[in-house]
Amino acid sequence: MSHEFEPAEGRQNGLAPQAPDPDQTILVAGGAGYIGCVLIPRLLARGYRVRLLDRLYFGESGLASFRDQIELVVADVRDVPDTALDGVDGVINLSGLSNDPTAEFDPDANWQMNAIATETLGQKCVERGIERYVFASSCSLYDGLPPGMHDETADIQPRAAYATSKRYGEEALLKLADDGLVPVLMRNGTVYGWSPRMRFDLVVNTFVKDALLNGRLNLHGGGWMWRPLVDVRDVSDAMIAAYEAPAEKVQGEIFNVLHSNYQIRELALLVAGTVQLTGRTVTLSETPAPKLTRDYECSNAKLSTTLGFIPRHSVLEAASDLVNRLEGSDKTTLTDPRHYNIRWLELMSELKPSLERFETVL
Ligand SMILES: NC(=O)c1ccc[n+]([C@@H]2O[C@H](COP(=O)([O-])OP(=O)(O)OC[C@H]3O[C@@H](n4cnc5c(N)ncnc54)[C@H](O)[C@@H]3O)[C@@H](O)[C@H]2O)c1
Repeated sequence: MSHEFEPAEGRQNGLAPQAPDPDQTILVAGGAGYIGCVLIPRLLARGYRVRLLDRLYFGESGLASFRDQIELVVADVRDVPDTALDGVDGVINLSGLSNDPTAEFDPDANWQMNAIATETLGQKCVERGIERYVFASSCSLYDGLPPGMHDETADIQPRAAYATSKRYGEEALLKLADDGLVPVLMRNGTVYGWSPRMRFDLVVNTFVKDALLNGRLNLHGGGWMWRPLVDVRDVSDAMIAAYEAPAEKVQGEIFNVLHSNYQIRELALLVAGTVQLTGRTVTLSETPAPKLTRDYECSNAKLSTTLGFIPRHSVLEAASDLVNRLEGSDKTTLTDPRHYNIRWLELMSELKPSLERFETVL
């Protein structure tokens, strides 16, 4: 059934069909990850040259389809080799620890990567006269605020390690705007959808995997918490739109990047229905809430009014696409720890003594 009817094409997200000035080299830090492996082919399709700087924590299999079209610098963002910035026109920074559990696992490494390295890379850009710096921040900065719809002007009070480090990174880059940097801060919602470097630790992707593998979805605390969500293709295009926008429109601007706000319960129902269309049974159960739950909503109005960008791929579309792609996958593939950032990090730490010579540990 899900193979027969596809969502109609033609609904555009507002990204210009062509790059205004594609004769540029873009340094994509952390580009071997979940978002980067979707973003980079889109940059290449627009005619940009891409230099990818990454520690390759999750390997390089996600790069296979474009590996021969990019320059790969295997390096740590905490120690960027000077040559990595030679000839670079702009930076998109996706590197660092990318969720709460990994940031809590090693708060010091998280701070050095997400906060300090973000700032240092900005300083290096200023020294080199590289202006555009698009930074992957997070809507989780709104967690902890009173219930309501928050925009980019909200008086955020981040407390957790991940959000605090992202906020420091944002503020450091904003200060560098006085020195000529053109930082654009993208507060991404929780991302969903297919990537060649897949993550199954993001709520929609997790639900699709659980529905296919176990036929059961657990609603912690009933799943009433709100979250902003966005498709990985739209996040990538929003970053490109931010990269290409005139400096006077975006210098020092913050943008929330989300398709919609959803309750977790709603996401489970959408995924369960999508999987049921393939003839499978999916049950939903309510389970006790964990100690820490995240619950917040935010607005994407500024993204559309300032950049003319409106994320277009819904959860339903992405869930249906994921089911089509994953239906035949075996358990080993779906449960591979590489697809779960915290499990992979724990594994790397456990194996630290024997991995040290491969320089892949934190
Ligand atoms: N995926 C989401 O739902 C989401 C939501 C909001 C914000 N973000 C932000 O977007 C960015 C990308 O997220 P993702 O989902 O692609 O994450 P990911 O974990 O899949 O990718 C991160 C990449 O950065 C690399 N990296 C990590 N530390 C590094 C270091 N010290 N030096 C060099 N490379 C390093 C990793 O090897 C990996 O390839 C992150 O900054 C994350 O905080 C993601």
